[in-house]
Amino acid sequence: MPLSVVILAAGKGTRMKSSLPKVLHKLANKPLVEHVYDTAKGLGAEEVVVVYGHGGEQVKEACKHFDARWVEQKEQLGTGHAVMQAFESLNLNNNVLVLYGDVPLTQKQTLDTLLQDSEGKIALLCVNLANPSGYGRILRDTNTNVCGIVEQKDATPEQQKIQEVNTGILSCNGETLKRLLNNIDNKNSQGEYYLTDIFERAANEGIEIKTAQPASVDEVEGVNNRLQLATLERVFQRNIADELMMHGVALADPARIDVRGKAQISNDVFIDINVLLEGTVKIGCGTNIGPNCVIINSSIGENVNIKANCVLENAQVENNCEVGPFARLRPQTHLHSNAKVGNFVEIKKSEIGEGSKVNHLSYIGDTEMGKDVNVGAGTITCNYDGAYKHKTIIGDDVFVGSDTQLVAPVNIAKGVTIGAGATITKDVEENLLVISRAPQKTISSWQRPIKTTHK
Ligand code: UD1
Ligand code: CA
Repeated sequence: MPLSVVILAAGKGTRMKSSLPKVLHKLANKPLVEHVYDTAKGLGAEEVVVVYGHGGEQVKEACKHFDARWVEQKEQLGTGHAVMQAFESLNLNNNVLVLYGDVPLTQKQTLDTLLQDSEGKIALLCVNLANPSGYGRILRDTNTNVCGIVEQKDATPEQQKIQEVNTGILSCNGETLKRLLNNIDNKNSQGEYYLTDIFERAANEGIEIKTAQPASVDEVEGVNNRLQLATLERVFQRNIADELMMHGVALADPARIDVRGKAQISNDVFIDINVLLEGTVKIGCGTNIGPNCVIINSSIGENVNIKANCVLENAQVENNCEVGPFARLRPQTHLHSNAKVGNFVEIKKSEIGEGSKVNHLSYIGDTEMGKDVNVGAGTITCNYDGAYKHKTIIGDDVFVGSDTQLVAPVNIAKGVTIGAGATITKDVEENLLVISRAPQKTISSWQRPIKTTHK
């Protein structure tokens, strides 16, 4: 049966103590509600309806790329009331799955299991907790069939001993759900319209209530404060680390890698401690990532050695390159194979040709560098004139002496040798030696000043 998903995201999130609506707080750099949305899409949901309330415009703006319908719940009168707001926007012939915008880690497999063979039934995700305090308790009849849910605040001391609790996640045919929620009241200790009231009604009607459990409690854990958010972030990261290791990636410490996005990492990659991968990151076989590297939206080839403390953003690094330690590759940097970029080097929007080396203390920006170029220490491409950026072109086999400034636009043809300390402002033709420096003078009569002791 086609699936519709309702994401409840109207809660205030007071305990976050934040001006940002709770569901926009990020886990692995992605809003909580987007984790849930992605899960819904991953299940093949035909339609997704988000019930929003608090900070509505902000939530809608942050999630405008969602293929979802938005329904406002003006007052937060309870989970049952929230679901009712969605009915007008739903295809009620579908199976309707209710998810929570602040429960980010529910796995597709858990929900697939829940939804499997659930036609004509209500499916309810439950979990057994050592400390069930605060949750709705699952009531079962003598045949162990679910016959109701009682909220903590409405439960008798005897019911409070029940350890099987409601995760809030359930599915039910749309029409059935609408009928069961019809005329529910708020005569309970919280004065709310409870979604959980449908269970007693369904049981009375003889509707079968199927239950399932998640593989881990983390999957149904909600975020109410920043401590819980940080705890779930660690769970999420540990899950990714475990998955990487199972695919043959070596991690120096699975607790000290953070992946905030999509990492495609080949086997036999070694990742040292405190590495952050953000956005879409690809790393090829046999590559080594040193400690304390930050790699954002970049593609790294095979057998590359990224040494300690490098920052890469929107960069492409081909096979067998060496980078760092302490190198910064800024957007649109492309290192062709076997290139070397050493310590305290910044590269921006440049091609560094095959086998070329920029080993020490240099800035290369807006440059097209050929093959086997050697750039000496302290070389600067002066690419900015205060108003415009200009290009530097360096041909194959060029040797750039240390402490050279290349004032762009400038074209250094192949095979050129630039003597150390040059300021190059004009194009240089193939294979020439170019020097631009003040002639060296020796002054023989000079005396070094000497500090005397009296004033
Ligand atoms: C609910 C369940 C409880 C379950 C628990 C699991 C009910 C009555 N109780 O309790 O059985 O054990 O979740 O965490 O359903 N929301 C809205 N609009 C509202 C109220 C809530 O959108 O008017 C959203 C919240 O943003 C949140 C979710 O629904 O994402 C759950 O609401 P919450 O108030 O946390 O429910 P609980 O009282 O914890
Ligand atoms: Ca809750």
